[in-house]
Amino acid sequence: MTAQVICFASAKGGAGKTILTASFGSFLADLKKKVLLIDCDWSTHGLTLLYLEPVKKSIAPMDGTRNKVLK
Ligand SMILES: Nc1ncnc2c1ncn2[C@@H]1O[C@H](COP(=O)(O)OP(=O)(O)OP(=O)(O)O)[C@@H](O)[C@H]1O
Ligand SMILES: [Mg+2]
Repeated sequence: MTAQVICFASAKGGAGKTILTASFGSFLADLKKKVLLIDCDWSTHGLTLLYLEPVKKSIAPMDGTRNKVLK
């Protein structure tokens, strides 16, 4: 299986890069595709902020319990 790299980029702020990336990633995941989203915006890191809480809540801790919210 080969990976495809899709990059949403624009020099203009507020053009929709973050929202489009998040939406398209979710769309592909719903199609059972393996998706890796990489936030390359070091200044505002909007994609990370968008997904940080859901990701933290879904991480399975090492003690075997699931869906434990990390502090
Ligand atoms: N949670 C939200 N609710 C309503 N509007 C939003 C929300 N998040 C973003 N927007 C709006 O959607 C548009 C696209 O925002 P988005 O953050 O995707 O742009 P961006 O290209 O990633 O911007 P930046 O370069 O600042 O990271 C903007 O007009 C923004 O104000
Ligand atoms: Mg953004």
